[in-house]
Amino acid sequence: MSKLYCEFDPKRAPADKTLPGLLKGQKALVTGANSGIGKACAIELGKAGADVVVNYVKGDEAAKEVVDTIISGGSKAFAYQADVSKEDQVQAMFKRMREEFGTIDILINNAGIQKDSKFTEMSLDLWNLVIGINLTGQFLCAREAVREFKRRGVIPEVSVSAGKIICISSVHDVIPWGGHVNYAASKGGVMLMMKSIAQEVAPDRIRVNSICPGAIRTPINTAAWDTPEAYSELMTLVPYQRIGEPEDIGRMSVFLASDMADYMTGANVYIDGGMTLYPGFASGG
Ligand code: BGC
Repeated sequence: MSKLYCEFDPKRAPADKTLPGLLKGQKALVTGANSGIGKACAIELGKAGADVVVNYVKGDEAAKEVVDTIISGGSKAFAYQADVSKEDQVQAMFKRMREEFGTIDILINNAGIQKDSKFTEMSLDLWNLVIGINLTGQFLCAREAVREFKRRGVIPEVSVSAGKIICISSVHDVIPWGGHVNYAASKGGVMLMMKSIAQEVAPDRIRVNSICPGAIRTPINTAAWDTPEAYSELMTLVPYQRIGEPEDIGRMSVFLASDMADYMTGANVYIDGGMTLYPGFASGG
């Protein structure tokens, strides 16, 4: 019942607006692509004409469904299981992608987890787990992608840039989040990692940007939206008065990966219905 309330939310995301063919001939890798934001990015990239590697850790069936959806839309896709926090697994994944697709043009650095704990009770294991996937995982994948972008260079018929990396970060790269210190630290780290890589590789015509989502309807935050009470509590933080849908992020990933965004690098794009606008100040202050 409570789920229906959210499913029939009249303020849902608008209908699909992907431009078909925008990414034709490009090869994309999306990490954590069998659910939530990663899944939406993979499907939207596929619809825009890119061939896609659907990375996942757990959930073969869900990964297969994403692959089938992309293939039924006319692009190529295959699933690849790898833990992004493990260097050998990441390197094996990039090797396989080169064998299968020849190269990589677009990396969506999405895989991430949230493991909450009161700060004084946060174990080192819980800290390392979140930093390992959310930050080190993005580093390992970005490094392999940049190596390949530099090796290959620009192929003008494919794209005017040598490669694009899109880091999926969070509003919590700037909004502090008590009870989630490991998560906020990982996303704050992603911001300066992204900007530093962007600065270093811009002369190679490689673009690196982040998307910073607010509250998006995904499994990571079900408790924040799956009852009417939770949903209206969440809306006190969202001036635009609706939860985000994974496709809101998927569409931006297509734009950032395309040559339409060619002069964008080192940017943080907040897609959050105004969550970063200090909503408490609409009437206070
Ligand atoms: C978190 C969600 C949260 C959202 C807004 C995201 O990065 O993963 O759990 O709802 O930020 O606070």
